[in-house]
Amino acid sequence: MAQTLTIKSVLIVDGVGPSCAKILESHGLSVTSIPKISKEQLLKEIPNYNALVVRSATTVTPDVIEAGKNLTVIARAGAGVDNIDVAAATKKNIMVINAPGANAMSACELTCGLMFALARNVVPAATSLRAGRWDRALYTGTEICGKTLAILGLGRVGTAVASRMIACGMKVLVYDPFVSAQQCEALNTKKVELDEVWPEADYITLHTPLIESTRNFINKNTLSLCKKGVKFINVGRGGLIKEEDFLDALNDGTVGGAALDVFEEEPPKNPLTLQIIQHPAVIATPHLGASTKEAQVRVGQEIAEQLVNLIKPKTYNTPLAKVQ
Ligand SMILES: NC(=O)c1ccc[n+]([C@@H]2O[C@H](COP(=O)([O-])OP(=O)(O)OC[C@H]3O[C@@H](n4cnc5c(N)ncnc54)[C@H](O)[C@@H]3O)[C@@H](O)[C@H]2O)c1
Repeated sequence: MAQTLTIKSVLIVDGVGPSCAKILESHGLSVTSIPKISKEQLLKEIPNYNALVVRSATTVTPDVIEAGKNLTVIARAGAGVDNIDVAAATKKNIMVINAPGANAMSACELTCGLMFALARNVVPAATSLRAGRWDRALYTGTEICGKTLAILGLGRVGTAVASRMIACGMKVLVYDPFVSAQQCEALNTKKVELDEVWPEADYITLHTPLIESTRNFINKNTLSLCKKGVKFINVGRGGLIKEEDFLDALNDGTVGGAALDVFEEEPPKNPLTLQIIQHPAVIATPHLGASTKEAQVRVGQEIAEQLVNLIKPKTYNTPLAKVQ
């Protein structure tokens, strides 16, 4: 039987798109939107609400959860729940939900765009021309077609990247212990073990969650097994790459190029991370994977529809994305 909760009042913070409030209000919920909220104000306001919707600016710490005497659900309008203390919420019987699928297409398109940008030296060439130079020979690129791409993690984003890059003529290898060889074949990709990834791949793109088994996935050891000049794209999570080892590999040419959207610490302050960001072979973006107008609308809708389903089961087809 579908789970129902008491949700009458909802506090939306962090500038979640207006579609979220609109859907909730159309089902009779009382909604307050405070796009920018301080910790003090949140602690003062939270006892008045049954549901809290956050994006990434607000950190839902145990004291916020403690103060939320009437909270039944905390919703993250986005994929990860790094900014919510899920254990503290669960202890208080507060459900945590997220919107895992809403930004997959945006993350996929950034990944593919960065791959092309790396292949054709788009960023350094444009920077050089802006500075008044005309360095055509220096920025000769390579074609993507015919190259081998390894996708680590064939989930929502990885799958979307696979079909697009196959259409561009790449051979796609997949490493994902939770996906079968048949599923990979159905996508015209090949399931491989990790030891096949490193020597074969011209490009490696990371789309796994950051968990114990994937932390520092890319490290001194795995880098040493890679093709000289391999290119990496990380629109997954900071922490998948051991940054110290990665900088060494950039400096000695083991890694020929990298496009990084996520970092161990965000915004990055560590001098080592800053050296990676400033490295000439690197294109770095400030966690833009989900930053599109379409994804912002979709996350708000996906969260609102789940909240409505929690009080009026089966109103929308959107499945409940409960975080354990
Ligand atoms: N940069 C951004 O703004 C942005 C936007 C969207 C998603 N993301 C991140 O991208 C990643 C992928 O997102 P998604 O929506 O595709 O997630 P998903 O849960 O749909 O897919 C993750 C995949 O990783 C696989 N996996 C788990 N452990 C693995 C392991 N040890 N080795 C290899 N594969 C493993 C899973 O089987 C699954 O297929 C997540 O870390 C997510 O947080 C970042």
